[in-house]
Amino acid sequence: RRIVLSGIQPTGGVPHLGNYLGALTNWVNMQPAADTPDHRVFYSIVDLHAITMPQDPATLRRNIHDMAVSLLSVGIDPDRAVLFRQSRVHLHSELAWILFCKTPVAWLGRMHQWKTKMEAMQQQSGLQIPANATQAEATLSLLNGTAPEQNAPSSTSSSTSDDTSAATSNLNTSGPCLGLLAYPVLQAADILLYKATEVPIGEDQVQHMNLAVDIARSFNSQYKKDVFTIPRGVYATGTAKKIMSLRVPTAKMAKSDPSDQSRINLDDTPQEIMNKIKRATVDSIRGVTYDAVNRPGVANLLRIHAAVRAVKEPGCVESTPEGCARVFSEYDNAQLKKAVGECIVDGLSDVRDRMVRFKKDKAYVEEVLRKGEEKAIVAAERTMRDVKRAVGFY
Ligand code: TYM
Repeated sequence: RRIVLSGIQPTGGVPHLGNYLGALTNWVNMQPAADTPDHRVFYSIVDLHAITMPQDPATLRRNIHDMAVSLLSVGIDPDRAVLFRQSRVHLHSELAWILFCKTPVAWLGRMHQWKTKMEAMQQQSGLQIPANATQAEATLSLLNGTAPEQNAPSSTSSSTSDDTSAATSNLNTSGPCLGLLAYPVLQAADILLYKATEVPIGEDQVQHMNLAVDIARSFNSQYKKDVFTIPRGVYATGTAKKIMSLRVPTAKMAKSDPSDQSRINLDDTPQEIMNKIKRATVDSIRGVTYDAVNRPGVANLLRIHAAVRAVKEPGCVESTPEGCARVFSEYDNAQLKKAVGECIVDGLSDVRDRMVRFKKDKAYVEEVLRKGEEKAIVAAERTMRDVKRAVGFY
């Protein structure tokens, strides 16, 4: 049996080129000829994951719909794939709770994404964690909102002697929420709930994937039953695993980057794409070479070009960054950027056309999601029965 599962956050409403090349092209390719019990694919708009950071309800509602439009536009086919909103399949939350109780907190403090977000919040709030604190101490101190005299909002800073209220207001205003720490366990629940064998994802999700495997193994061994299938991450081939920001080519292209110039969104107009690539950070070395270490900006453009070409014409000379560098070796920066920009415009033109079409048909999109949710619930309930039996709820 092949069961494929993956998820994308609705944040921003429209995927960026990193999502597309790193994960979504694999989502499309992994769809079976037909949805059968032996080969099923589940693709989820993971809206529960989107509320771990401050959020606005109207924006979230719109983004969830726009993400469904985007996924249909990149080629997710409702006859071959089960497309659904995570929050509509309540068993994700239910399994997550059970897994919370089976996951040592220490496993979570190690996650890079948590650490990065925690560091950002630490900087914003001015909370000082001693350099010699252990990972567990640092995590706990952030969760507790300790060091209240530095962390409290200015209006309440005079009341820092009242420990309890200061700690509570810290958590509400600037500290990370419990959900942000627990996020990877919910992700494990997403995967294990369908007994997924394969999970198409980008390289930034390796740690979360390994955690899902660890949780599955430890649950099975604790209850001496193969309740969960051990899943395997499927990563994009070639250079698409990690697409970098156009502005800071040593950081990944991300929806959370405040600068829209840092990413290409799948609904950008040809003009916007050309402009963003024109402004992309490169270096002033003459000629085009592929050198990921010393020329990260140029390397990122070559990788993007290669990955976009590889979608349409796998195996062609321009489907590797080295091949692109050979073809463009005599180009100056302006010529390189023009070639890369045009390649992206061409590579995304079908997606953009379909987006215009699906955007007009709200009722159809809603119907696809609703049907997907019905199917997802049936599959999820089957696993939950095994889980509950193992734990002792029956
Ligand atoms: P998210 O929404 O950030 O990203 C969706 C997918 O896009 C990949 N990706 C990238 N690939 C290459 N280069 C990049 N710059 C880049 N940025 C993002 C991600 O690896 C991902 O595959 N936690 C997940 C969502 C999730 C999930 C799941 C995934 C929740 N539950 C269960 C798989 C299975 C996330 O935030 O992805």
